[in-house]
Amino acid sequence: MGPLSAPPCTQRITWKGLLLTASLLHIWNAPTTAQVTIEAQPPKLSEGKDILLLVHNLPKNLAGYIWYKGQMTDLQHYITSYLVHNHKVIPGPEYTGRETVYCNASLLIEDVTREDAGSYTLQIIKRGDGIRGATGHFTVTLYLEAPKPSISSSNLNPREAMEAVTLTCDSETPDASYLWWMNGQSLPMTYRLKLSKTNRTLILFGVTKDIAGPYECEIRNAVSASRSDPVTLNLLPKLPKPYIIINTLNPWENKDVLAFICEPQSENYTYMWWLNGQSLPVSPRVKQPTENRILILPRVTRNETGPYQCEIRDQYGGIHSNPVTLNVLYGPDLPSIYPSFAYYRSGENLYLSCFADSNPPAQYSWTINGKFLLSGQNLSIPQITTKHSGLYACSVRNSATGMESSRSVTVNVSGKWIPASLAIGF
Ligand SMILES: *[C@@H]1O[C@H](CO)[C@@H](O)[C@H](O)[C@H]1NC(C)=O
Ligand SMILES: *[C@@H]1O[C@H](CO)[C@@H](O)[C@H](O)[C@H]1NC(C)=O
Ligand SMILES: *[C@@H]1O[C@H](CO)[C@@H](O)[C@H](O)[C@H]1NC(C)=O
Ligand SMILES: *[C@@H]1O[C@H](CO)[C@@H](O)[C@H](O)[C@H]1NC(C)=O
Ligand SMILES: *[C@@H]1O[C@H](CO)[C@@H](O)[C@H](O)[C@H]1NC(C)=O
Ligand SMILES: *[C@@H]1O[C@H](CO)[C@@H](O)[C@H](O)[C@H]1NC(C)=O
Repeated sequence: MGPLSAPPCTQRITWKGLLLTASLLHIWNAPTTAQVTIEAQPPKLSEGKDILLLVHNLPKNLAGYIWYKGQMTDLQHYITSYLVHNHKVIPGPEYTGRETVYCNASLLIEDVTREDAGSYTLQIIKRGDGIRGATGHFTVTLYLEAPKPSISSSNLNPREAMEAVTLTCDSETPDASYLWWMNGQSLPMTYRLKLSKTNRTLILFGVTKDIAGPYECEIRNAVSASRSDPVTLNLLPKLPKPYIIINTLNPWENKDVLAFICEPQSENYTYMWWLNGQSLPVSPRVKQPTENRILILPRVTRNETGPYQCEIRDQYGGIHSNPVTLNVLYGPDLPSIYPSFAYYRSGENLYLSCFADSNPPAQYSWTINGKFLLSGQNLSIPQITTKHSGLYACSVRNSATGMESSRSVTVNVSGKWIPASLAIGF
């Protein structure tokens, strides 16, 4: 049965024709006494299939029928109509080319989509005796058959007791509810299982054998229910979180030999090292005596503070340790003095600033001609005189290592500057 076998009632007429024929139809306000019923065959929509809206107990002596999408009987929702007296079919704005109305008012919808779900209203128009006609409205609602769901997982092979997994019931279906089953039963009450608001997504925290599945999900709507195939998570063996043991966290630059050890030890794992999130390159500076588990840095520099991480790996993947950051003690470097110029005039202000890179920060002191002047980084003497000439030295000291360094600058203060015009006057 298809549109080709339809009765010879599928001629088309124009909109103009419809408006003309509409005047033949009269309005019948009281509901018909005949029990008109509409039956959907099959009773639910499955995408891609055809559905027939069969009209039973159609009254005799009708002028025509109009099908609408939804429950509104206005022009916008008008799909198609059939005029009995001339067997004409008049399509409307909601006509998609997939609808066929038959002489007996039944409507065939071919190749249905999910958008075809919803209500349909049939309006029948009685032939009036004289100017009196009548219409009646009958509605049927089509539901999309719940599609067979499938379970998608954020990770089908989680690490035992370590990783969270998100299971989603696909595909998303309008006006449906979602149910989950574990081991064929409703979900156990445990804080390690959490459903999303719509119940479509299930989150499993720290998957262990008892909650590894099998899981099934079900999509339910007004007309049907459909369950997925079961999905069981494949647990990978637990990996312990590694940690780093180090001989010192405060090594001296260019002096201390650093030894990092990644724990725990096991012949089952391989070991890797990371510095600043990058896999530590194999370099002559870095020695790894045994299976990578021990990392030796012969002379650490200030640029190699970290963070260091070690990783243990098995055939499925790995896990990183917490990062370890070194506090490399260095300096003080040779200090610099600003400004570096040496010639001043009486009455000017002398301002000298000293800086030396150091960890921890250097302690500063100033001397003039070998005599202690002050502690601190900066030296300031207002309105200097020739008496302030001399050798100014900045000494720096690293309190942690006890290392020291110094630099000096010769300051030459000349007598008061006398303007040339005044000098000529003398
Ligand atoms: C109406 O006509 C169609 C097409 O010929 C047919 O399949 C259907 O069974 C008929 N409906 C009734 C209620 O007889
Ligand atoms: C989700 O499932 C619970 C029972 O597991 C039920 O009580 C609740 O109504 C469901 N929520 C929705 C939005 O379907
Ligand atoms: C190494 O793996 C074997 C086999 O899986 C296991 O029996 C053994 O306990 C593991 N050794 C360690 C130290 O984890
Ligand atoms: C540290 O890095 C800086 C900039 O990358 C470089 O100029 C400096 O020489 C390095 N210092 C050492 C001690 O390696
Ligand atoms: C010393 O002077 C320098 C440069 O003017 C300034 O950056 C620094 O903060 C000063 N140090 C102190 C301890 O005031
Ligand atoms: C200061 O500068 C003057 C002029 O250049 C020079 O004659 C004198 O020797 C200098 N004194 C010192 C202490 O350097």
